[in-house]
Amino acid sequence: MSKRWYQENRRDPWRRQAKSKGYRARSAYKLKQIQEKFEVIRKGDYVLDIGCHPGGWTQVAVEEVGDDGYVIGVDLLSTSPVEGSTIIIGDITNPKTIEQIDKELEGHYLNCVISDISPRLTGRYDTDQAISLELSTMVLDAAMPILTPGGSFVTKIFQGVGIEGLIDAAKMRFSSVQRYAPTASRSSSSETYLVCRNKLPKVRKEAKGRTAYEQLKDHLKDLDIVIEEEDEEQIISKIGFRKYTKSE
Ligand SMILES: C[S@@+](CC[C@H](N)C(=O)[O-])C[C@H]1O[C@@H](n2cnc3c(N)ncnc32)[C@H](O)[C@@H]1O
Repeated sequence: MSKRWYQENRRDPWRRQAKSKGYRARSAYKLKQIQEKFEVIRKGDYVLDIGCHPGGWTQVAVEEVGDDGYVIGVDLLSTSPVEGSTIIIGDITNPKTIEQIDKELEGHYLNCVISDISPRLTGRYDTDQAISLELSTMVLDAAMPILTPGGSFVTKIFQGVGIEGLIDAAKMRFSSVQRYAPTASRSSSSETYLVCRNKLPKVRKEAKGRTAYEQLKDHLKDLDIVIEEEDEEQIISKIGFRKYTKSE
């Protein structure tokens, strides 16, 4: 690690605070700030935390739901147990993972889905932003069937091309959709969170019969951008991510 990295981390008040309060990640404070402003999680809620490793958001969600609530965390990576939650190792874009979540829910619907999901970063901003946008849109599609009407959905997005496609898709499904950048996000980061509240009982008619992902693809097509399709094997090895390229 570079000297600069050490200096920045020593100075980082959120990291210090997280450590002193027993949170596994400084990102716990991002969810706390989202919660303070929007109250997306209530006592007794059933919550799904997507991309939960190492468990900071799961810890906060467990505190917020209290003894009568229930939290499920899911991640590709294994996460040490968080008391009061169930952790699943799996890829949220894989239907088998959704089946596993469904089984855990035993017929209950979720009141809130929170997602701090982030792909493995390549360091090339445009690529990372595009992959992240695609992933967050897939997460929205995965959440819809198991989220109760009136429920909330929070996901991370990075500023850049195409995010309006996801925001429009969210507006077709929730009565309130807002962008929020917690101060606990690093000042150098372009990450922001999409906070969607009050899931509509039915998707608005303009988007009827289309997934959020299909809406995103249409939006990108309007911007003259295509998502490169890859064969099944490549898709699996990249966990469903494709590259964006400008069409000729
Ligand atoms: C920024 S970390 C989450 C930090 C977490 N919110 C916390 O407070 O501890 C993002 C996580 O998303 C996970 N992730 C990426 N793609 C995923 C996928 N397809 N399914 C499940 N998890 C995924 C990564 O493994 C990574 O652990």
